[in-house]
Amino acid sequence: MNWFGNFYRSALGKKAVMAVTGVILFGWIFLHMVGNLKLYLGPVHLNEYAHFLRAMGSPAVPESFALWVSRIVLLVCVVLHIHAATVLTIMNREARPVGYRDRDYPSATYAARTMRWGGVIIALFVVYHLLHLTTGTVHPSFIKDDVYHNVVTGFRVWWVAAVYIIANLALGLHLYHGLWSMFASLGVTNARVSKWKRAFATTFAVVITAANVSFPLAVLSGLVR
Ligand code: HEM
Repeated sequence: MNWFGNFYRSALGKKAVMAVTGVILFGWIFLHMVGNLKLYLGPVHLNEYAHFLRAMGSPAVPESFALWVSRIVLLVCVVLHIHAATVLTIMNREARPVGYRDRDYPSATYAARTMRWGGVIIALFVVYHLLHLTTGTVHPSFIKDDVYHNVVTGFRVWWVAAVYIIANLALGLHLYHGLWSMFASLGVTNARVSKWKRAFATTFAVVITAANVSFPLAVLSGLVR
């Protein structure tokens, strides 16, 4: 295990941890978005899907076991991703205490700043989102196991829909920059491959953002009721 500690202490190690945990989190966000598309098929389909998530693996394993394993993996990824990002930021500041203020690197610092603020917005959103649609703590008419009802009545409140839209736009930028810098960390710099990198990062970020933003908009516009 010590080799991992030594590796993680280096900047390269932290970037690798960010890339691996980022890919896992990205995979989750993609699957979550695909699952949520069932909103358009109606209450039976969406609620059945939510039930499947809890029943996954049973009766081989107790109900909710697989769900809890995936929750723990996600949580470990989130903690490592945020820890590596924070330490890398501190390392960068210490290596360059004067800052870029007088230098001509506007796009590099813009991307980095977006990543940090985007990360903070997404983290705050996930806490709100769990209290809203998973535990129902901040949902005014939460019904346990009626996911369709919770989503639709939740998004009928305009400012809740706005919170989801803003957070998912921030997530879209974060995914785009994140995928992009992951390729850079992995050393994929070949010009021909570079074109594909941009196309890949753009397509995934746009598809995920468009679908996620469409859910609150569909409810607000009355398309989904
Ligand atoms: C408009 C977009 C979204 C919708 C409609 C949505 C909907 C939902 C719903 C209905 C649940 C509860 C599922 C259940 O109890 O069975 C849920 C859980 C969850 N969502 Fe989302 N979600 C959205 C975006 C996101 C995003 C962008 C993230 C992460 C960045 C996210 C992370 C989670 C997590 C971690 C859970 C808890 C899963 C669990 O362990 O039970 N969601 N979401």
